[in-house]
Order: sequence, then C-alpha cells, then structure tokens
Amino acid sequence: MTKVAVIGAGLIGRAWSIVFARAGFDVALWDKFPNAIPAALDFIADRLPELRQAGLLGEEPEVVLRRIRPIETLREAVKDVEYVQENGPERVPEKKALFAELDHAAPAGAVLASSTSGIPASAFTEELRGRGRCLVAHPVNPPYLIPLVEICPAPWTDESAVERTRALMVKAGQQPATVKKEMDGFALNRLQGALLAEAFRLLADDVISPNDLDALVKHGLGLRWSFMGPLETIDLNAPGGLADYCNRYGPLYAKMQQQAVPLDWDEALVGKLQAARRADLPANMQPVRQEWRDRRLMALLAHKAEQPE
Ligand SMILES: NC(=O)c1ccc[n+]([C@@H]2O[C@H](COP(=O)([O-])OP(=O)(O)OC[C@H]3O[C@@H](n4cnc5c(N)ncnc54)[C@H](O)[C@@H]3O)[C@@H](O)[C@H]2O)c1
Repeated sequence: MTKVAVIGAGLIGRAWSIVFARAGFDVALWDKFPNAIPAALDFIADRLPELRQAGLLGEEPEVVLRRIRPIETLREAVKDVEYVQENGPERVPEKKALFAELDHAAPAGAVLASSTSGIPASAFTEELRGRGRCLVAHPVNPPYLIPLVEICPAPWTDESAVERTRALMVKAGQQPATVKKEMDGFALNRLQGALLAEAFRLLADDVISPNDLDALVKHGLGLRWSFMGPLETIDLNAPGGLADYCNRYGPLYAKMQQQAVPLDWDEALVGKLQAARRADLPANMQPVRQEWRDRRLMALLAHKAEQPE
C-alpha cells in the first residue's frame, strides 16, 4: 500500500487526505495544532458520502475514512512514507521550518512536496541536505474535485523526484502538469491572471457589464475549456490547424497584446466590481453558492468520467 503523510490539516490538507485515501493510500495526518485534526476528520466524514453519491468514490465512505490516521508527532507521521504533502501556512519562515524538520525526519527516499500557492520551492529548500527531493505540488482547490496538480521543481530538484511525484499523482487519480522553471504564479495562475487582467481592463473601460463578462466564459469559452485546452481549441478552429489559425488571426492577437497596458486594481474599480457581485449574491448566500458550485463540479466530473477521451 502506498504510504503518504499529509502535514497540516487545514482546508487543503484535509482535501488532499480525501484524494489519497480515495486512491487506497495509507494517509498519516498531522497538524501543529491538535484541534485541527478532529475538525478535519469531521469535514472529511461529511464530504465522503457526497462523493459516493456523485459516483466519485469507489468504496464505502467508512472504508476510505479508516485509511486516514491522525498522528501526534510529525516525526511519527513521516515514518515509512514514500511521499509527504505539506500544507502549512503560506509564509516562508513556516515553510522553511517545516521543510527542515521534514528533511530531517522523513526516510531518505521520500519526496517532500509543498502545496504552496505561490512560493517557489527554492525559497524554503536551498539549505537542506535533501533539497534534491523537494518540490511544489500545487493543487487547485478542492483537489478531490479538480484533478490538476502543478509539479514545480526548484533548480536543484532531482528529475527522479519530479517523475516519482507525477507517477504518484496519476496513481492518486490526479492530473500532473510539470512547470519546468520557477515562475511567479507557476503556470496555472499566470493563465488565470492573464484572463483576469483583460477582464478588469474591459470592465474599467466600461466595455461590458460584469454579468455579461461572466457570461462570456460560462456560456462561451468555458464550455470548451472543460474538455480541451486553448491550443487544441485553436487547432480545431481553422481548416489547416493551429498554424492556419495563427496565420489568419495572429495580427489581431498582436494588436490586442500591444493594447494590453497594465492596470492598477484600485479601490474604485474593485469597489465597483464587489458591489456588482454582492447585488447578484448577497454575502450571506456565499456558502450556499459554494455548495452549489461543488455539486455542479461533481456532476461535471461524473459526466467526464463516463466519456471516452
Ligand atoms: N486555500 C486554497 O485555495 C489553496 C489552494 C492551493 C494551495 N494552497 C496552499 O495550501 C497551503 C495550506 O493552505 P490552507 O488553505 O489549507 O490553509 P489553512 O489555514 O486552512 O491550513 C493551514 C494549517 O496549517 C496549520 N499550521 C499553522 N501553523 C503551522 C506551523 N507552524 N506548522 C505546521 N502547521 C501549521 C494550521 O493549524 C492549519 O491547520 C498553503 O501553502 C496555501 O498557499 C491553498
């Protein structure tokens, strides 16, 4: 049985525990604050039946839950594991301290991965003896519903650590994508950032309303994006494929790129967009809408799982 440790039992640590236990792994779960563990186990026990009902859990919830073992010390949690997923606070000093402890305590062959949203692995692993086995495995929240994981090595990470992480993620039912060089925002958030930057420009210039802006994605671009990426999209949108598309529309995209001046997300703009969102979704309805989002995601995933590639 694959043995892994999940370090930190907050929002992301508990979600990873579901991913690994669902795949049949033995999961040792540790948090610096002992109260975090029962809260995480309650959360997981609530989620598993929903996943089972949506066809996204192959076994009974109790069977999966039993694979997640709360552990009292970090040292004990990483004993005999082949992979560690760290989910502590998003601050460099905490990541440095955790990785120093993990490097000291985990078996020499174990990969040490961080869930960090944006801190490059080089910022907290440089001084470690085992820095060659450290990397970032960045999930999209929640990873038990969104399979993509960015694998982001530091310049000194061993190729074998990257390959072993990719293989483990595939075994866990996730979809790895390797980001070969350290970059702010890795790659996924750079794509999201490019879309948001243009959206905010269009809204600041009053080119379109906030509702219509969201409609462009949910009734337009996003329909394709749930089963194909932007490269396959343009490849299918011109008779001669991608090169033909670039030939036809390249000058238009070049013009748009030249017009794309950076824009401050200032108080006035953010305030206007926040007001538009709250008019559509009162603040107290946000948790209800989050549950709705997760149910929609589960239905979409179940649909995708039934379709041949
Ligand atoms: N929330 C997201 O959407 C998201 C998405 C992708 C990645 N991440 C990353 O995952 C990591 C965890 O984020 P989260 O949203 O689960 O945060 P969280 O605050 O929910 O959980 C952090 C956990 O770390 C524990 N902790 C606090 N201090 C600690 C310490 N010194 N050592 C060890 N553990 C400690 C806390 O008790 C808590 O359970 C962060 O690096 C974050 O950037 C978050």
